[in-house]
Amino acid sequence: MSCILELEQVSCRRGEQDRSFDVSIPSFTLASGELAIMSGPSGCGKSTVLEMLGLVLQPHRIGRFIWQSDSDGAVNIARLWERNDDRGLSSIRAREIGFVLQSGGLLPYLTVAENIMISRRISGLPCSGYVNEISEVLNIVPFMARKPHQLSIGERQRVSIARAMAHQPRLVLADEPTSALDPNAADAVFSLMMKLVAVTGCSAIIVTHDQQRMNLGSARIVTATITESGTEFSE
Ligand SMILES: Nc1ncnc2c1ncn2[C@@H]1O[C@H](COP(=O)(O)OP(=O)(O)OP(=O)(O)O)[C@@H](O)[C@H]1O
Ligand SMILES: [Mg+2]
Repeated sequence: MSCILELEQVSCRRGEQDRSFDVSIPSFTLASGELAIMSGPSGCGKSTVLEMLGLVLQPHRIGRFIWQSDSDGAVNIARLWERNDDRGLSSIRAREIGFVLQSGGLLPYLTVAENIMISRRISGLPCSGYVNEISEVLNIVPFMARKPHQLSIGERQRVSIARAMAHQPRLVLADEPTSALDPNAADAVFSLMMKLVAVTGCSAIIVTHDQQRMNLGSARIVTATITESGTEFSE
């Protein structure tokens, strides 16, 4: 199986100057179609890692950071950051990555359908039966004409997942997509995400606090180790 991500010694500095700490990934690879689950205590740097992997946050140090692009083959992300190549970074971000934000992040003045279609429109993709397919898997078809405030938290989280996946990204980064749900609803959303990964063949990294959901089938587990200099994320 080909690797979509290959990282060695990638880290970012967080915190105030006198109390700064490093959030680091010593070594990590993710294959196409693979699911990784990431966990660690609040404030250790999980969202920070997703921002680095999602090309939103520039790492402080990069040993190696390769993104296997659909169209351009192996892309050296370190070089894009060095050159401040915003266009190169944002084109990968927009076309190939989907974010399920910790805060949900749906736009309140748009309907569910419009929220979901935004990422396709940004990428210049036409309407497709694929969106109907994932909306059916997520069981959100009845809410398409509603606004986010007319949905329950769990329904909003399912819509956020559809929005993150509508442009058929190769990698989905989900930041605690079940944090606001009761255990049954969280189980349901987690299994839906796993089903979507299987159905679409994309890769995904899901952050969760929830120990119960860590040992899911073949998912790889990435955990935070707190060291003197900060947090290290490894398997
Ligand atoms: N934009 C920022 N600038 C500077 N420091 C930040 C920024 N965002 C977060 N931090 C700090 O970096 C550390 C890691 O934050 P992060 O949000 O990655 O943690 P987390 O593991 O996702 O926490 P949680 O489980 O509460 O979401 C925290 O100490 C936080 O205060
Ligand atoms: Mg977080």
